[in-house]
Amino acid sequence: MKILVTGGGGYIGSHTIVDLIENGFDVVSIDNHSRSHAFIFDRIETITGKRVKNYTINICNSSELENVFSQEKDIAGVIHFAAFKSVPESVKSPTLYYQNNINSLVNMLDCCLKFNVNNFVFSSSCSVYGNAKTLPVTEETELSQAESPYAFTKQIGEEILNNFSNNSNISQIILRYFNPVGAHPSSLIGELGLNKPENLVPFITQTAIGKLPKLTVFGNDYDTRDGSCIRDYIHVCDIAHAHTKAVQYLLKHTSKITNLFNLGTGTGISVLEAIQAFEKVSGVKLNYEIGARRAGDVIDIYANNNKAKSELNWIPKYDIDGMMDTAWKWELKLAEK
Ligand code: WQD
Repeated sequence: MKILVTGGGGYIGSHTIVDLIENGFDVVSIDNHSRSHAFIFDRIETITGKRVKNYTINICNSSELENVFSQEKDIAGVIHFAAFKSVPESVKSPTLYYQNNINSLVNMLDCCLKFNVNNFVFSSSCSVYGNAKTLPVTEETELSQAESPYAFTKQIGEEILNNFSNNSNISQIILRYFNPVGAHPSSLIGELGLNKPENLVPFITQTAIGKLPKLTVFGNDYDTRDGSCIRDYIHVCDIAHAHTKAVQYLLKHTSKITNLFNLGTGTGISVLEAIQAFEKVSGVKLNYEIGARRAGDVIDIYANNNKAKSELNWIPKYDIDGMMDTAWKWELKLAEK
């Protein structure tokens, strides 16, 4: 069975391709490397023994996208990762996020209709919950105001899919990731942006290895147990495997089905607790200071993941120590070359 993965050179996309191949799927990718590295496909080949074909086209260009679908026959399903995903960048450039994240989704759905691809997995985010009134959040928790344009594009994406599901025969699953962190146990793939990191864990590891002088904790005066923001960090390999489970779930159902799952561990970890876990696992004392709050930050969010556990038969395997250990080993490997 062939699965088309958009954003296949990215962090979650590359780990998902590895998991799909290890579970017997053929994979083809679309990634124009606007936010990823081409060498990741060499690493995927090293890990899996398979060379994944990647089309370096812009999904916002509908004719280029249609060309891929017309070349790649018998696509059984799509996993759509390709999107910009930085909270602070979206605050600085909101229309860039609306244009890229929403147009690419609409073009993908248009091609699925035209080329009869009837299974669609959408990469969404816990940021759609905003500052949720009750925690942990379940899939039924009412969505609050999006705290950033990035989160807003994910809310709109889900709305489009909800409406689309009533007006097409395409089965779909929406996956709401909490905070993906860590790296593949081989240390051959991991989180690697094109510029200075904005997410917490790569900022921690790059500070620890000396690429960055120090980490700033964006606020310790929040109404949480230690004053710093709480997140549900989840290992990228656990997230990747959930996508394989989601594709298997869709392919098992012959009639149209739509569903939505939280992908988190169910455990909230504060920024300061994450730093402590890193220091314990790596043996490195981290150079950090407390700074001002960051615009767009949610204060506290973590998942109730029972639905994915029961309906996808998905159990996250890594705890925060394992996440930090693989993230640190990836950083050390990057420093080797
Ligand atoms: C986490 C916490 C920061 C950097 C991410 C992804 C987004 C989506 C949701 C998947 C916050 C604090 C960070 C630093 C800090 N994921 N922090 N100093 O904002 O929760 O969003 O998860 O779709 O795509 O970006 O993640 O890692 O940026 O921040 O104190 O230098 O760490 O304030 O409390 P965020 P993050």
